[in-house]
Amino acid sequence: MAKQINATDVLKLVRKNVLDMKPYSSARDEFKGEAEIFLDANENPYPSGYNRYPDPLQWKIKEKLAPIKNVSPEQIFLGNGSDEAIDLIIRAFCEPHRDTILITDPTYGMYAVCAEVNAAPLTKVELTKDFDLDLEALFAAITAETRVIFLCSPNNPTGNLLSRDKILKVLKEFQGIVVIDEAYIDFTTSESFTQLLPSYSNLVVLQTFSKAWGLAGLRLGMAFSSVEIINILNKIKYPYNVNIQTQEIALNALQDEGKKNHAVEEIIEQRAQLEKDLLELPLTEKVYPSDANFLLVKVKDAPGTYQYLMDRKIIVRDRSKVTLCKNCLRITVGTPQENKNLIAAIKNL
Ligand SMILES: Cc1ncc(COP(=O)(O)O)c(C=O)c1O
Repeated sequence: MAKQINATDVLKLVRKNVLDMKPYSSARDEFKGEAEIFLDANENPYPSGYNRYPDPLQWKIKEKLAPIKNVSPEQIFLGNGSDEAIDLIIRAFCEPHRDTILITDPTYGMYAVCAEVNAAPLTKVELTKDFDLDLEALFAAITAETRVIFLCSPNNPTGNLLSRDKILKVLKEFQGIVVIDEAYIDFTTSESFTQLLPSYSNLVVLQTFSKAWGLAGLRLGMAFSSVEIINILNKIKYPYNVNIQTQEIALNALQDEGKKNHAVEEIIEQRAQLEKDLLELPLTEKVYPSDANFLLVKVKDAPGTYQYLMDRKIIVRDRSKVTLCKNCLRITVGTPQENKNLIAAIKNL
C-alpha cells in the first residue's frame, strides 16, 4: 500500500510560486477587533448597509457550519460557489503545462473548463457502463505529473454515487490531491467523506449552498480539507470573495437546518414519483438510479424531445452528446406541479 500523505507532504504538492508568495493583506486582515472609527480601508463612511467590506474569512458562517459538518472552522473554505474552489485547487496545485488533473468521463463540466483556463493538461477516464469508477483504467492513467483527481459523487450528469470502496482505494493509493465533489450529498443516505478528513491530509470535499439549501443565486460553496490546504486556498483567493449579503443570508439559513431538510425530503419523494411517471411513458427507455436532485433518462429521441419540451416552455438538459449518455435527458426534480406539467406535456408528444 502507498505511503499516506501527511500535512508536510501536502505542502510539497503546492506550486512553488504559490508557496513562496506573500499574500495580499487587506485592511480587515490587519485589524480584526472592535473599534469605533474605521479609517483604514478607504470605505465610504456613510451607512448604506454595505459601505463596509465584508469579513474576508467569513468566520461567523464557519463557526456555525463547523459543528454541523463535524470539522473545525479552520478546515472550511468558503467561496463564490464551489466553482471558485475548483478553480483555486487547480491554480494552487497545477504548474501550467505540466501538472495534470484527472477526471471521470462523464462528469461535471467545470473541472475540464478550469483545467483548460489554468493550462493544466486533462486526463479523462471513462466510467463503467453502470457509471461507476473503472479503477484499473484510473490507476493506469495516473502518471508522475497527475496532481489532482476530481471525483464527483453523486456524479453529475449520471446521478449515482460512485462506489465508496473504490473512492477509498484512490484515497489510499494516490499521492496527490483527491477532490470529492459532494454537491448532491444531501439527496443521499450515504455518509459524507468529510468524516475521513482526519485520516487524509490530501482530501478535499466540496459541498454547496446551491442545491439542498436552495440558494444557488447567492453563490456560496464550501470546501473542507486539512488546515494546510485550506490556508493555501485562502492565500490565493480574492480578498473579499463572499459579499456581505451572501454572508448574512447564509448565516440566517444555517439557523434553520430543518427548512433545508424538509425541502430535501420533498425533492426525494418527488424524485421517486417522477421516476415512476416517466417509466409509464412509451418514450422512456430507462431511468437511471439517482442519488441526486435530478434524473438521467434515456429516451427514444433526446434532441427531438428536448426541442418539443422547449417549444412548450419546459427546459430540461439534453445530455445526448455526453459520453455514455446517448439519447439521455437530464431532468431536475421540480415542484409536484412542475413535474406533473412535464409528464402531461410528454404524454401529448
Ligand atoms: C457536481 C457539481 N459541483 C459543483 C457545482 C457548482 O456548484 P456551485 O453553484 O456551488 O458553484 C455543480 C452545479 O451544478 C455541480 O453539479
